[in-house]
Amino acid sequence: MAPSAASTSSAAAAASPSAPASSSSLPFSPPSSLLIIGAGVFGLSTALALARRDAFARCSITVVDRSNPSQPGAFPSPDAASVDSSRIIRADYADPAYTALGEEAQAEWRKQDKPTDLGAQGRYHKAGLILVGDREPPAPPPGDAQTSQSEGLKPKMTGLDYARASWANVSALAAKNPQLAARIEELPNPDAIRGALGTGGGSGEWGYINRNSGWVNATACMAWLLDRVRETGRVNLVADTVVSLERDGATITGAKLSSGRVLTADLVIVAAGAWTGGLVDLAGQVIATGQILGYMDLTESEQSQLANIPVILNLSTGLFIIPPTDRVLKIGRHARGYINPTPLPYPPLPSSPSSSAPQTVSLPRTTLTHPPSSPSSPTIPAEGTTSLRVALQAMIPWPALHARPFSRTRLCWYSDTPTADFLVDYHPRWRGLFIATGDSGHAFKFLPVLGEKIVDCLVREGSGEMRGKWAWRDGGEGKEVVTEDGTRGGQAGWVLEEELASG
Ligand SMILES: *[C@@H]1O[C@H](CO)[C@@H](O)[C@H](O)[C@H]1NC(C)=O
Ligand SMILES: *[C@@H]1O[C@H](CO)[C@@H](O)[C@H](O)[C@H]1NC(C)=O
Ligand SMILES: *[C@@H]1O[C@H](CO)[C@@H](O)[C@H](O)[C@H]1NC(C)=O
Repeated sequence: MAPSAASTSSAAAAASPSAPASSSSLPFSPPSSLLIIGAGVFGLSTALALARRDAFARCSITVVDRSNPSQPGAFPSPDAASVDSSRIIRADYADPAYTALGEEAQAEWRKQDKPTDLGAQGRYHKAGLILVGDREPPAPPPGDAQTSQSEGLKPKMTGLDYARASWANVSALAAKNPQLAARIEELPNPDAIRGALGTGGGSGEWGYINRNSGWVNATACMAWLLDRVRETGRVNLVADTVVSLERDGATITGAKLSSGRVLTADLVIVAAGAWTGGLVDLAGQVIATGQILGYMDLTESEQSQLANIPVILNLSTGLFIIPPTDRVLKIGRHARGYINPTPLPYPPLPSSPSSSAPQTVSLPRTTLTHPPSSPSSPTIPAEGTTSLRVALQAMIPWPALHARPFSRTRLCWYSDTPTADFLVDYHPRWRGLFIATGDSGHAFKFLPVLGEKIVDCLVREGSGEMRGKWAWRDGGEGKEVVTEDGTRGGQAGWVLEEELASG
């Protein structure tokens, strides 16, 4: 059969046998109503960008988020990953596209002249960030099965490879930007790392500091974002839990809430972070992983001694320390994390109208979903607490801190993808459904620009490069997702319940 001019390759046609009307071949026309599920950094930034675009001036915009019953109307829910004392704002990546996006966001974070500027009022702290790596490769995933599953992915980078690639990229930018050049410095050996950290600790083999990076108060930034959304007067905020998506044939028509109410919309955007897999089967593209955090109370004098240290992130282990404010030091681990397979009371939307939905999906376990039976019951596995403590001893080797208990520990739930690229695309087999998730633990820094980029994907404008990176990818069905971007240490496939029980 002779191929017609209109047909693409048979492989491409086979990949989306029943592409809905929203597929990329048709011009975009704005819907008259739009529902965003999730008021985290993806959902709220998208709502703000939509409210500011002329094309959506006649579109009604609703955002729904789970809410703490004791704090009605709290957006986002207090156990959301976007709500925390701090998030690292890293300016550079091994990947040039994210480095460029990070630069765009930094310009906004740096604005602090007016109280309403994003970086003002203690929201942004330009403390500097040290990235270090060590020569040994990250620990292999446990078991042969998992090893073979990850074989199809790009070759693993070690933490050191990643740090060097990231340095190469930021150096290339600095060659064109003297202001940046003055703010970055290679730390070629353990002594240089110790000198830059200023605590007496830190002994990675190689690293660099970017004094343009730093950290932000995530809770305060989300409150700022919510204020901006409210100011538009365009967005209807609903506090309730979505239990399932509503559908009519192959079209998504809205969402059912736990109160029984149904919200209808022409277009539904699911931006529910690590909870997304409970609403939509993401078919091996995304998995919820829990990452450990610990908070330690400090004395006034420890606070003042540590107030001006940079953030340090060890890319070999994923362990990091954020300088303290209010006499609280935060330690965390950006690693492969724990998975939490959970039987689902409501089946998620299957990956196509003719498929069946999974019955179990990894979902967050938080202090709201599982209130601790006593204030001292562990929220993270003992293995995690030990790992945080070992890192603290290496990075701040002060005897007074070594045995001090953490005042609080917590799991921060990532929506992880195999490449750490976000998933921002129309669902290929359901009409009226757009997905914006897959943060992979590195999205918060993009808060100032993320919503605009998501709406660019929605209307199919802007950089095709990001649309390509963030596209829906079939073919992952039945595979365990393991993030292999070079920034994750630790083992894959640890099951939270088992680890909690063994500690
Ligand atoms: C950034 O690093 C990657 C390697 O990870 C390299 O391919 C790319 O060319 C670098 N970009 C710049 C601007 O140096
Ligand atoms: C990073 O972690 C590795 C492995 O645990 C350790 O050998 C190294 O000293 C750490 N680097 C820093 C700066 O703490
Ligand atoms: C972050 O901001 C919140 C809300 O504005 C505030 O209560 C909290 O003390 C701040 N935390 C830090 C670490 O600055």
